[in-house]
Amino acid sequence: VIPARPITQFVSRPGILDLGWGHPAPDALPVAAWATATVSTLERYGSAALAYGHPHGPGPLVDWLIRRIGNTDPRGCAPAEMFITAGASHALDLLISMLTEPGDIVLVDAPTYHLALRVITDHGVDVLPAPTDIAGIEPEMTARLVGGVRRAGRRVRLLYTVPTYANPTGASLPEPRRRDLVDLARHEQLTIIEDDTYRELTYDGTVPRSLWSLASADEVVRIGSFAKTVAPGLRLGWINSDGALIDRLADRGYVDSGGGVNHTVALTMATFGESGAYDRHLAQIRPRYRGQRDALVDGLRDEVPDVTNPAGGWFVWIRLPPGLSGCHLLPIAESHGVSFLDGGRFFPDGRGDDHVRLAFSMLAPADLTEAAHRFGAALRRAG
Ligand SMILES: Cc1ncc(COP(=O)(O)O)c(C=O)c1O
Repeated sequence: VIPARPITQFVSRPGILDLGWGHPAPDALPVAAWATATVSTLERYGSAALAYGHPHGPGPLVDWLIRRIGNTDPRGCAPAEMFITAGASHALDLLISMLTEPGDIVLVDAPTYHLALRVITDHGVDVLPAPTDIAGIEPEMTARLVGGVRRAGRRVRLLYTVPTYANPTGASLPEPRRRDLVDLARHEQLTIIEDDTYRELTYDGTVPRSLWSLASADEVVRIGSFAKTVAPGLRLGWINSDGALIDRLADRGYVDSGGGVNHTVALTMATFGESGAYDRHLAQIRPRYRGQRDALVDGLRDEVPDVTNPAGGWFVWIRLPPGLSGCHLLPIAESHGVSFLDGGRFFPDGRGDDHVRLAFSMLAPADLTEAAHRFGAALRRAG
């Protein structure tokens, strides 16, 4: 018998409530609505749905997405400022490839999305954490760091950050800091790559305005994704930037050769959006993920002091009791039937093992409550 080959990235571990994966809950994925959108796309566009796509992305998606972004942020974007990508990771990979040379330094938030660190370092650049305080990236200290790096003869042109409902902290940069950060970019001639992947997953209050909306010229490039709002398997996202960079992206050899990225999926996404299915889907998943967050946070409050309540996104970032390390805790937690990611992987410089990241996206509320109790039991055993 030939064993079946795996279909998905996720690996289930029986007996373990795994809070390590930041993936959508399988039953939150819009299988039936996507099937409907696929059929209507093929009926409506016929062969154009299966042809090589326009370099910037199919017009119907660009138009719908521009309207959508305009509803979620004070600054939308013009068609010339939009390039459709195969998700946020692909967007980041393209930007690092185009805007750096090997040996450059790229600044990152700390902690930051751990897999972005991999995408960035794939390009032969060095990553340096920007100085932070309790509110997030500290612009004055960052300016000093940039000065020092440049005086040492190294080139630094990019800063990557997830300022809204961040992975791994769930926190958002306060608005005054956002303004200061964009000012810093302007003065220091840095480009900020704003990873805005979680903007639409708001549970309480209103989502902060983007860095992109505060920029006056080309200080900010924004990347977005449908991985969290619709489905990661689509591998669909976008880049917003000034038109010159968008033209360079669309003019790359692989686009000339293969057409716009993920054309058929992108056109189907346009149908999904225009038909109202996107709005209906978000209206379903927001309360669902809010309920999952509440179950995890409420459960943790019985077990750990100072649990923060993320207003959006998928993650809770926990400071461990003094002296306890995430790597040390992990095997103990797994023996109690719960898992997580240790905090060290979210820093490029060896810090972070005094924290852990717990994702609440994949599990039902009752399992999240149980996972919180198991986590508490592991803490008591380890401490
Ligand atoms: C901040 C952030 N950016 C990007 C991604 C990946 O996005 P995509 O699936 O569109 O490549 C993730 C997924 O966890 C994320 O948390």
